[in-house]
Amino acid sequence: MLAAPMPTATLERLDRLPPDLAEKPFRFYFRRDRKTFGLGVGSLFFTNLLDTLTPLALGLAIDKIQGKDPAGLGRAILMYGALMIGVTACRYLWRIYFGRFHQAVADDLRNRIFAKLTVLGPSFYQKNPVGQLMSLLTNDVNSFRMAVGPGTLILLDAAFLTAMILPVMLYVSPDWTWKTMILLPFVPFIMQRMEKLVHELYRVAQDRLSEVSANAQEIISGIRVIKSYAQENNKRAAFNTISRDYENAQNRVARVDAGFEPLMDFAVAAGGAVLLWACSSDVVRGQITLGEFFMFYQYINKMIWPMSAIGIGLSMVQQGRASFDRVNELLGTETDIPDEGDVILGDFEKLEVRGLTYRYPGGREPVLRDIDIEVRAGETVGFVGPVGAGKSTLMQLICRLYPVESGKILVNGHPLETVRQRSLRGIISFVTQDAFLFSDTVAQNVSLGLDEFPGLDPVRDAARTVDIDREIDSLPDRFDAYLGERGTNLSGGQKQRLTIARALIRRSPVVILDDSLSAVDGKTEKTIVRALRETLGSRGARRQTTILVSHRLATLKHADRIFVLNEGRIEAEGPHGRLLETSPTYRRLHQLQSEEKLSAVFGRADDASSPPAGEETGS
Ligand SMILES: Nc1ncnc2c1ncn2[C@@H]1O[C@H](COP(=O)(O)OP(=O)(O)OP(=O)(O)O)[C@@H](O)[C@H]1O
Ligand SMILES: [Mg+2]
Repeated sequence: MLAAPMPTATLERLDRLPPDLAEKPFRFYFRRDRKTFGLGVGSLFFTNLLDTLTPLALGLAIDKIQGKDPAGLGRAILMYGALMIGVTACRYLWRIYFGRFHQAVADDLRNRIFAKLTVLGPSFYQKNPVGQLMSLLTNDVNSFRMAVGPGTLILLDAAFLTAMILPVMLYVSPDWTWKTMILLPFVPFIMQRMEKLVHELYRVAQDRLSEVSANAQEIISGIRVIKSYAQENNKRAAFNTISRDYENAQNRVARVDAGFEPLMDFAVAAGGAVLLWACSSDVVRGQITLGEFFMFYQYINKMIWPMSAIGIGLSMVQQGRASFDRVNELLGTETDIPDEGDVILGDFEKLEVRGLTYRYPGGREPVLRDIDIEVRAGETVGFVGPVGAGKSTLMQLICRLYPVESGKILVNGHPLETVRQRSLRGIISFVTQDAFLFSDTVAQNVSLGLDEFPGLDPVRDAARTVDIDREIDSLPDRFDAYLGERGTNLSGGQKQRLTIARALIRRSPVVILDDSLSAVDGKTEKTIVRALRETLGSRGARRQTTILVSHRLATLKHADRIFVLNEGRIEAEGPHGRLLETSPTYRRLHQLQSEEKLSAVFGRADDASSPPAGEETGS
């Protein structure tokens, strides 16, 4: 059963970092979940208390056996039994409460990280590799969870036990206590070193494991290329090496990790040996009973753990802090496209780009310069230009995926940064150049941009508009067919058409198609362009505004206006006929594409690449 999703208001607050979380993360979570945490600490306290009393009962029982006192022995056994039941119950309870507590911490932190990841813009992802971000979401969250939960628990456990056991031991015999405990204070240091080493080695092992899965994943997704170039054996050899590295890294962890228990057992044994050697004469002389001697031995055993625990717990807390620092850095990262505007757009009236110059973060040259354009409601405008001219960049800026630094983009007269992003994206449907599909059903992919699933009919209508309905009906589960990762079980053209359907179903006032018809054949393309114009009719009196980016002039021929973009500048603007006269770049593209068409008809592909004489000048 799925857990109920969080309310929207809570979801929206998640990406804001509360100052006390940033500064004192442990205290923040202890306070936030004080009830569960408090119950955990309480149960732990009682576990320790009862546990400290059990050796007393055992010692008492031994003395009663020696004193041949069956009634006293019966009472001692009863007491021992009751204590054991109490310890078991309390131990179960602290495990439950602490478990709940630290899992809730991890859940909260993961959701905060994820919320931040959704708020950050594409430029952030350019600088931060996915693998590193995944490691924050998994390894670092886990390491902080271990610190807040088990790490804190271990330290509290150590504190409680020491505070309870040491006074009893001192009460029994101060002399025995110092003799047997003298070496114990070294234990925390040794354990802390070991734990730190294990953690470092473990991180390395985790990184190796990520490499193993990343490598396998990449090869599986690229299996067609690997097979086409007969690279199976090379890839297998490379995988073997990576897998072996992981094995070695795990063995290094095991070598240190395996030392913990033997070391603790050795410390217990050493304490016992010292006790036998230095203190048993007191029993022989009758100063102390055998029961007390045995009780003392049990307490030595019990003291080894708190001493080790201090070392292990401190190290876990340190690692958790280091992990939290990394998480905190991400949570504190400001997005370059903050959603701070409060203008809510009604219908679309006009889009203006004024004096826009844009350089990618870290880029040397601007990729767009002095762009000035205006698009009015109901127009169909085209953008054309050579590869790398800046067409996609301009579309992404219009959708505010990157911030505008120099110049302005205005929708209905409002600068983009003053507009609520949900409202902006509600009126513009942007079909990106890479046709991205999720590993979900066809219907869910098409209705992605709607808050609720609209039912199958609208999905089917949108699919019919892009002429893919019959192809989907031939899939085993039709519209419920699951798509492979990124839509691997579809053709390039099918993927493109589904992403167009995804935009059409929203019936938003503006649709931007960034080269979204490149893998679609000419006939389907015409159907889609015509349908795009017709869909509008159903929106009432207003026509839909369409922005088409394309290399193919045939697609743009019927646009009201076409902008020619070259090396980041608008070189010319106008309808097809006028551009043939005014723009050399447009003319050359036109010439090339007419020749390609001719050679496709007459089979003269060799001629298509040479531009006609006289077209080279002026570009
Ligand atoms: N994320 C990015 N970071 C830095 N530079 C980029 C980025 N995306 C694109 N560029 C650069 O910006 C320039 C314009 O790219 P853009 O994708 O806008 O071109 P385009 O006109 O859409 O090309 P195409 O027709 O191939 O789709 C190119 O020189 C490209 O290398
Ligand atoms: Mg592009």
